Amino acid sequence: SKCERMISLYDNLNALFEKAINEAYPDVVDPPVVISSSNNPKFGDYQCNSALPLCKLLSMEKTDAKKKVSPLDVAKNILSKVPSSPLIEKLDIAGAGFINIYLKREYGQNTLKNILKLGKVNPPPIYQPKTVLVDFSSPNVAKEMHVGHLRSTIIGESISRLLEFLGHKVLRINHIGDWGTQFGMLIAHLEDKFPNYSTESPPISDLQAFYKESKLRFDSDEEFKKRAYENVVKLQAHEPKIIHGWKLICDVSRKEFQNIYDRLDITLTERGESFYQDRMVAIVKELEEKGFLEEDEGRKIMWGNQKEGTIPLTIVKKDGGFTYDTSDMAAIKQRIFEEQAEWIIYVTDAGQATHFQIIVSCAERARIKLSHHRVDHVGFGVVLGEDKKKFKTRSGDTIKLSELLDEGLKRAEDKLREKERDKHLTEEEFRDAQRAIAYGCIKYADLCNNRAHEYVFSFDKMLQDKGNTAVYLLYARTRIRSIARTANVTQEQLKKAIEDTPISLEHEKEWKLAKVLLKFPDVIARVTKDLSLHTLCDFCYEIATTFTEFYDSCYCVEKNKTGEIVKVNMGRILLTEVTAMVLEQCFSILGLKPVEKM
Ligand code: ARG
Repeated sequence: SKCERMISLYDNLNALFEKAINEAYPDVVDPPVVISSSNNPKFGDYQCNSALPLCKLLSMEKTDAKKKVSPLDVAKNILSKVPSSPLIEKLDIAGAGFINIYLKREYGQNTLKNILKLGKVNPPPIYQPKTVLVDFSSPNVAKEMHVGHLRSTIIGESISRLLEFLGHKVLRINHIGDWGTQFGMLIAHLEDKFPNYSTESPPISDLQAFYKESKLRFDSDEEFKKRAYENVVKLQAHEPKIIHGWKLICDVSRKEFQNIYDRLDITLTERGESFYQDRMVAIVKELEEKGFLEEDEGRKIMWGNQKEGTIPLTIVKKDGGFTYDTSDMAAIKQRIFEEQAEWIIYVTDAGQATHFQIIVSCAERARIKLSHHRVDHVGFGVVLGEDKKKFKTRSGDTIKLSELLDEGLKRAEDKLREKERDKHLTEEEFRDAQRAIAYGCIKYADLCNNRAHEYVFSFDKMLQDKGNTAVYLLYARTRIRSIARTANVTQEQLKKAIEDTPISLEHEKEWKLAKVLLKFPDVIARVTKDLSLHTLCDFCYEIATTFTEFYDSCYCVEKNKTGEIVKVNMGRILLTEVTAMVLEQCFSILGLKPVEKM
């Protein structure tokens, strides 16, 4: 059926061997089942390494030395109990008792054929679809949306795509910093600079400069400062004119953010801190009534489930105001109670890890988050410039994201011209390729590194056409897709071949490529477990390089001396098609746009 999901090889082998081991040693409780993929074809495709640990367990029980068993005996015993399976070609024992597992080509053929028949790559099964709330991007109004927010945006988008692919219901939430005391001074500055702002919309072109100007006045002008504070009070009291000013400032920011999201094809629902105003009042009341709040030098604080080695949340400030902590407590309650979120994922810089730990701990203490709710903080390292210092412009300013994307476009254009692609592509094709390369390389450079580490932002590196880069992968995919086209294979021929021609897996390199593709469900499972996209990037790179090996040694078409096509190997064409499909499915999770011609 159309919703048939892809089977995990690993899970299947695990189940087979678990059954065999239980049958061979019914008296051992919870025997070790150790399956791993083999990195040397001499030892099969997978291995079962249970014999050694099992042997240790058995000899601990047996005191009689004569009755001691060897790992080899154990391996033989297990092997004899493995039921026949469509997955397995043969099993043999190596060394001291490792069982080598060889996959069956027929299984590979059927599985890959199924992808071609369905016309799509299905995800592996999930235990239960969940409502997942992914809190990502989340920049602050009137402050710069910096590269840290870019990382959150790229990682959060990919995680959302991954979970949607698996069949979860995903809510993509942009927790914008759109509420707080900074608006007092911004509005005071707005009043002075654009006195008519309530009737004429003010032409603020550079909100960052506007922020800097008002901050400067705030720090140096007492009268201004006083007015700023008054505005905070008026804002909280929802005085119409002040609310109007606040909205105007948010609108300017919103447009800037949206521009970045549109360019990068990011989908988000805005729900800023201001959304939680009433809910903050309510949660403070609730926590107060339940006795969770403690006085601390005029503040009201809350500890998590344990005090040792952590810090408390500040729920109410000395002046009665609320904090980032308050809004996150209100937000987690809203998400669990109103959105019915079963899984919440926060994507921010690693520096906020402690903040979220305490939020979760306090939410547990207040019985907002129960044990069946899962909460993850997906933290990431800082972005560095090529000088290994914090990523800044030459003059030391924060880099504007729109300018960064512009530079990406410029660099991608240079790259394409350097390869003389402008001579082969129409203007439209050229621009498509340019955008795909520019935005693809920025996303991919971020995702292909272990997110926990800091990473060095370098256009030179990310635009290289060799190695694990978006440019290399985009080219690889376009080349794969062009094979059937240049062989003049029609859609009808392809359709027919899918029905009646087996995918060619006889050649060692064909089979190697197929076995990489068959890992797809296991890779997806791994990426989901760690919420770490670099594993998926590595997988794409492995597909592309293994494909090149195959293509270098296996002709898909045969030509005569004059270059005419004399024979098309349809079994191999099918292999190229299914490779492209798996690669494209990975691209779609990573947010890479395939290019028709480049
Ligand atoms: N606005 C915050 C920042 O720029 C990120 C918000 C993350 N989400 C949250 N629920 N606290 O650091």
